[in-house]
Amino acid sequence: MTTKTIQTMKGKGSIVSLTAYTKPMAQLMDPFVDLIIVGDSTGIIAYGFDSTLPVTLNMMIAHGAAVVKGAKKACVVIDMPFGTYQESKEFAFRNASKVLIETGAQAIKMEGGLELVDTVEFLVQRGIPVMPHIGLRPQYANTIGGFKVQARDDAATQQLIQEAKAFEKAGAFSLLVEGVFEAAARQVTQSVQIPTIGIGASPECDGQVLVTEDMLGLFSDFTPKFAKQYVDLSETIKDVFSEFEHDVRTGNFPTSQHCFGVKNQA
Ligand code: KIV
Repeated sequence: MTTKTIQTMKGKGSIVSLTAYTKPMAQLMDPFVDLIIVGDSTGIIAYGFDSTLPVTLNMMIAHGAAVVKGAKKACVVIDMPFGTYQESKEFAFRNASKVLIETGAQAIKMEGGLELVDTVEFLVQRGIPVMPHIGLRPQYANTIGGFKVQARDDAATQQLIQEAKAFEKAGAFSLLVEGVFEAAARQVTQSVQIPTIGIGASPECDGQVLVTEDMLGLFSDFTPKFAKQYVDLSETIKDVFSEFEHDVRTGNFPTSQHCFGVKNQA
């Protein structure tokens, strides 16, 4: 899958996307998804930060490179962390090009509104495919007053549409739309020719993404309303850890089949 393939999927509501931070997880989802997003949510989920703000470029590069190794089919998009693209378009290009060169991913994602349009155009013209992230932008939680659903009224919806159209004109290959009312998601999706990938943005988008740990029941500190949990893997994992503890404490592990140099070994 390339960013161009993703663009041909506009209008069907069928683009499938998940987040990944590691090679094994990328390998498991690769046959089933079109897009793998290496989100800066890794800061909260894997590192235990309270927000995504402390995530660094080097963290994203390390996780991005691991995910690319596990993705044989899906298009890999890597999040630009806070502070690595807002200062100037030249600074953004330096950091985004480093991400693509050092990971082998196809595209980057950046949170922003109209203030980011020039930067997106600058990057796209210089060979960097960009997915702007609009609506609820977690990197801006300090200025918008927390993780609040966006585009609740007509004025805010019109603002979102204006941003979406400006990003399309700037050359963005798709849009990530997070945490907006259904009517806003529908109008944004209908206003642009590039695909919209929604999270907490209703079925009106051209595709859907979930944070993988939310869907697998592997992260319970905070569960947004939009996160559908398909399975509770944490219970399964705890059962296995408990079985291992029992085996070691009772001498049931290791047995001869897990040892070297034991007589009568197969
Ligand atoms: O950081 C993240 O995981 C995201 C998802 C919404 C894709 O931005």
